[in-house]
Order: sequence, then C-alpha cells, then structure tokens
Amino acid sequence: MSTEESHQHLKAIDAQTTEQELIEIYKTWSETYDKDVTKDLGYVAPKLAAEQLSEKLHERGLSKNACIIDLGCGTGLVGEHFHKLGYTNVDGLDISPALIKIAEKKQVYKTLQCGYMASDECKDLGIEANQYDAAICIGVFTIGHVKSKGFDDLIHVVKPGGLVCFTIRECIANDPSYGYFEKMNELCELKKWRPVSKNNIVYHQVNNFKSWLYFYEIL
Ligand SMILES: C[S@@+](CC[C@H](N)C(=O)[O-])C[C@H]1O[C@@H](n2cnc3c(N)ncnc32)[C@H](O)[C@@H]1O
Repeated sequence: MSTEESHQHLKAIDAQTTEQELIEIYKTWSETYDKDVTKDLGYVAPKLAAEQLSEKLHERGLSKNACIIDLGCGTGLVGEHFHKLGYTNVDGLDISPALIKIAEKKQVYKTLQCGYMASDECKDLGIEANQYDAAICIGVFTIGHVKSKGFDDLIHVVKPGGLVCFTIRECIANDPSYGYFEKMNELCELKKWRPVSKNNIVYHQVNNFKSWLYFYEIL
C-alpha cells in the first residue's frame, strides 16, 4: 500500500504496523513530534477541527465548560487549540505514555489517561459510557492507526444528543481494509448516530494532503 508520506517517522507506519510498534515509533518521535508536524508538515487539522467543533457546540447552546474528550490526544495539539478557545473541561486519552507525558506539560487538559481504542466492547478504553458532551478524534483514523472499530469508542463515551468529530485521511477513506465507510453506514442503520456534516479539509499544508472531517450526533 502506498503511504504517500514523506516524513521519516510516518514512513515507518503502514497498514501492517502493530500497536506495540506504533507505541515504539511515537516514543522515539515524542520530543520532536510537535515541531515536525506543525512546522515541517503544516499539520492544521487539529486547529480546524477544534474551531469547527467549538462553533457547533456554541450553536447547540453549550458553554466553554462543555465536557469534551480528545481520543488519541497525542502531545495535545487539539487540547492546545481548545485551551486557546477558552474551554476548561477537556480530557485526553492516548495509547502512548510518551506522548501523554508531553501533553501533561502543556496543562491544557483537565485529566489525561492511557487507554486503548478499538478493543472489544470498548473495555480497554477505561472510560465509563455516556460521560461527555462531545468527543474529538483527530489524526487517529489514519494509515496504520485505528480502524473502524474505533467509532464504537466515540459512541461509547458521548451522551445521547452529544457530538463526535473526527478526521479520516482521504487516501484511505475508501480502503476496505480499514472499513470506515461500511461501519459509518452500519452505525446509522443501527441508530447509534446520525450524520451532521462532512467536509474536506487540508490536513498537511506542505504536501496539500487532505482529510475528511466528520461530525455525527449520538442517538
Ligand atoms: C497522528 S497522531 C495524532 C495525535 C493528535 N490527535 C494530533 O492531532 O496531534 C495519532 C495518535 O493516535 C494514537 N493512537 C494510535 N492508536 C491508538 C489506539 N488504539 N488507542 C488510542 N490512541 C491511539 C497515537 O498514540 C497518536 O497519539
């Protein structure tokens, strides 16, 4: 499979990468991740997604105290944008202890925890059901990361009526081995969520890579 990536750490990740390998790659990458992705790659998806989710929460009458979980928070780029926007109640979760350590230093999350998306019945996520007004998950439904099973985690943590927001890299959006398209439709048919919006956004400015930014309401 072509990864269409040029950065050395991203080059090491493909559809066959295991979770343990991913944890090791992010451990090696943790100290320079922010500079590499923001300055070198022009990774703007966290900013664009946080702004759009903030607008949607505002339209729904939710304040800056809304309970939000950033799933696959990494070093906290999404959290930083919510902090700038004035949000005070954002939690973060990631599989990588090394990235969580970097996120902790930024002091933009209320709590941070290690957890694993895409387990059976969401049991390795470590979060009770229906806890949040919204969940955001940026850069996680991407090459060699979390497959469609991760949508169950978004649904699990958000209260009925709440919003979920996530990106899917354009280059794998229709790749059946990730199963995104089929699972999104299945969850609609099962009345677990309903589509709110979908738009195409710039992901990495430098290479003009794109992603889809999805919003669903939990039913
Ligand atoms: C490209 S980074 C994006 C991080 C952050 N959301 C951002 O936009 O900078 C992908 C993140 O997904 C996390 N991740 C990968 N698989 C995961 C899983 N099964 N459960 C939770 N996090 C996972 C990685 O550790 C990494 O932090």
